[in-house]
Amino acid sequence: KGKRAFIAGVADDNGYGWAIAKSLAAAGAEILVGTWVPALNIFESSLRRGKFDESRVLPDGSLMEITKVYAMDAVYDSPEDVPEDVKTNKRYAGSTKWTVQELAESVQKDFGTIDILVHSLANGPEVTKPLLETSRYGYLAALSASSYSYVSLLKHFLPIMNPGGSSISLTYIASERIIPGYGGGMSSAKAALESDTRVLAFEAGRKKRVRVNTISAGPLRSRAAKAIGFIDMMIDYSSANAPLQKELTAEEVGNAAAFLSSPLASAITGTILYVDNGLNAMGVGV
Ligand code: NAI
Repeated sequence: KGKRAFIAGVADDNGYGWAIAKSLAAAGAEILVGTWVPALNIFESSLRRGKFDESRVLPDGSLMEITKVYAMDAVYDSPEDVPEDVKTNKRYAGSTKWTVQELAESVQKDFGTIDILVHSLANGPEVTKPLLETSRYGYLAALSASSYSYVSLLKHFLPIMNPGGSSISLTYIASERIIPGYGGGMSSAKAALESDTRVLAFEAGRKKRVRVNTISAGPLRSRAAKAIGFIDMMIDYSSANAPLQKELTAEEVGNAAAFLSSPLASAITGTILYVDNGLNAMGVGV
């Protein structure tokens, strides 16, 4: 029987979420995605109009099918958490059931269960500010959107995950090494995400035999990364200094995610897998 995957954080064909969806589809999984409410209309209309058709091509020549696109906002767990101004915002008012709890209920109603859960989203309103200039609001917002969003997603989806399933998130080396420019509490958010990966691996492993891992990915020119402002420099730095002197493709991260989600990785849980051309292993630039 084919596996079913839910990938949270796909809103175009440039990011890691899209590439992970493709690698999982190529391996035979059914694909469901969760798209941030404000980005939903453009993503769905672009999909419909064929704007992504070239990027939908799988290795066997067929096109990746996305069975269903769900609206989501990972900073709200249930309708009671949504402030009035967001509820009445016209982009939000146009969709329904996008809190994490309602999202999991909708997926259960539509499909029953899933096997693979992917968290490929992050947000930090003050990411361009150094940590010393970050406000309490900005710091907590980064943690809410980038770290707790994963705890919440797994908490709500675990009951509908089949035993033996797998869950993956995306992290960045700025959690453990100083990367000037990755500010606003985003480095803190990734450190929390990595620590939570271990604790959640224990809890989800004991509860449901679900594996929990995170991929520490190298730099990719995604929409989110362009907003940080230093992505071209990080790509150049990696090409100059990493053991493998090539640009990292999103597909390479997608393939690692497909491996981690497969039975080939059946004893791997609670780990950080570096998919970064080896840059993490360097001690100095060369
Ligand atoms: P992306 O822009 O493709 O993905 C980020 C997604 O998060 C977007 O689709 C955005 O709509 C969504 N999002 C933001 N706030 C949300 C919310 N409250 N609820 C639901 N969705 C929300 O960019 P990218 O870079 O592929 O990011 C995916 C993951 O990869 C993130 O966790 C990021 O930190 C991580 N990563 C990215 C690296 C890079 O160089 N691009 C390097 C290492 C990790």
